Amino acid sequence: MKKKFMISTLLLIAMVSLFSCIKNDDGYIPPGKDNLQLPPLDPQLVQQGQEIFRYETFGDETFWTDQLHMNQVIETAVSPNTALAVGLKVDAAALPAAVVAAIQAGQVNLDDPQSTLVLLQNNAVVGVKGQVSQNPDGTLKLVRMGITCALCHSTVDNSFASGIGKRLDGWPNRDLNPGLIISLSPALDQATKDIYASWGPGFYDPRFNHDGLSNPVVIPPAYGLYGIPKAIFTGDGDVQHEPAGPVAYWNRYVAVTQMHGHGYFADARLDGWVVDHREGDDLVTDKLPALQAYQYSIAAPEPPANSFDATAAVKGKALFMGKAKCAGCHSGPLFTDVINGGKLHPQSASVAVDKDYVNRSATKQWRVTPLKGIWQHPPYFHDGSAATLAEVVTRYNEVNNLKLSTAEQADLTEYLKSL
Ligand code: HEC
Ligand code: HEC
Repeated sequence: MKKKFMISTLLLIAMVSLFSCIKNDDGYIPPGKDNLQLPPLDPQLVQQGQEIFRYETFGDETFWTDQLHMNQVIETAVSPNTALAVGLKVDAAALPAAVVAAIQAGQVNLDDPQSTLVLLQNNAVVGVKGQVSQNPDGTLKLVRMGITCALCHSTVDNSFASGIGKRLDGWPNRDLNPGLIISLSPALDQATKDIYASWGPGFYDPRFNHDGLSNPVVIPPAYGLYGIPKAIFTGDGDVQHEPAGPVAYWNRYVAVTQMHGHGYFADARLDGWVVDHREGDDLVTDKLPALQAYQYSIAAPEPPANSFDATAAVKGKALFMGKAKCAGCHSGPLFTDVINGGKLHPQSASVAVDKDYVNRSATKQWRVTPLKGIWQHPPYFHDGSAATLAEVVTRYNEVNNLKLSTAEQADLTEYLKSL
């Protein structure tokens, strides 16, 4: 433990000193992919972190099975077609050749929940862990189930079929309707079910069970985060509040307060909220350094070939740095404020439609969202209020009165697509 702590402290010191030496005299780091040098990650730690990210429930079966009875819901009502319809993804690599052949031959009934249990038996439903056994009559039974980080922060490349393919860890699952899934629990009253069911695909409210308000945010990517001193939209996560690191702060928050894993979370800034689900055993704390290292190892995806107009993007870049005033906040190689320890911005800095979410956070301020890989995850802003990057640009143009011509707005959009 002590050694791990020492290593992460040293890493942070190294990070901070690297940031200061790449800083120009005027304190501004020009955006660009290659000018942020970060210490290499320990490959073994990264490997452990991948296992945790994909398969670790932190013991949250006590919630999803014992309290919400989601095992019964899945067993009786969730066929593979239903699972795919609520945005769950299937890891094709986990399917045994016989199952693949049977699916291809049309011999698997995709409207039968029993087929879902076969997938779970093979650990093939992304983000869902199930313990499957056989009834005396030969049918399958879902004894216990829990969820992992991959549920919301992984998707698949659809290479086998829609919703079935190779895992893409860190890519937000914007098809997933977590609220609707939770609303199927027989343990909830109708009013609570209605709230969960109202969130829609790609959205989740990680504060509903704390303050009782319902104002969901889009599920963000968990890639491209190495080097950013603050985590989440509102920058709640930092080393001051979690020695293991900024992302680890939020990973502890979600693992304990949302997934209901066995662990402990407390933050005085959230009206002194304390959640103790240890049940005699902390299954979270020791896993945070590896889990964070894995997320840090996932780079933001490069834009697909020919997905933007390169000439227009060059003009757009000049606008981003100049007339459109974007780089004042989206500065440095990660397009967020790394040099000032991740300076946060007041409520008014967001041009999103929703103005309230920020007040429910620990900081009550905004972190400047990093923009690498932004092409990959529409809709934009924490409330998903801009459907496309063109809409993002129009919004900024109007709200900040930038006076960009139609052609300039188009160029700026092409630049955003190129990041
Ligand atoms: C039910 C869906 C869900 C699950 C499960 C979930 N997350 Fe998230 N995650 C979210 C949402 C929503 C946010 C945005 C919260 C905010 O910014 O206020 C988020 C934010 C994040 C961020 C912040 C990204 C950034 O830009 O700083 C990271 C990293 C992350 N999650 C990783 C994880 C890990 C690791 C786990 C497992 C311990 C996990 N998440 C489990 C929905 C989920
Ligand atoms: C005052 C600081 C500031 C300025 C100036 C600024 N941004 Fe932002 N930007 C933010 C903040 C804060 C957010 C997060 C807002 C939210 O999600 O509600 C954000 C979010 C975004 C997003 C959405 C990211 C996502 O993952 O959804 C994009 C794209 C973006 N900005 C592009 C730009 C462009 C282009 C400009 C210039 C026209 C610009 N920004 C100017 C602070 C700023």
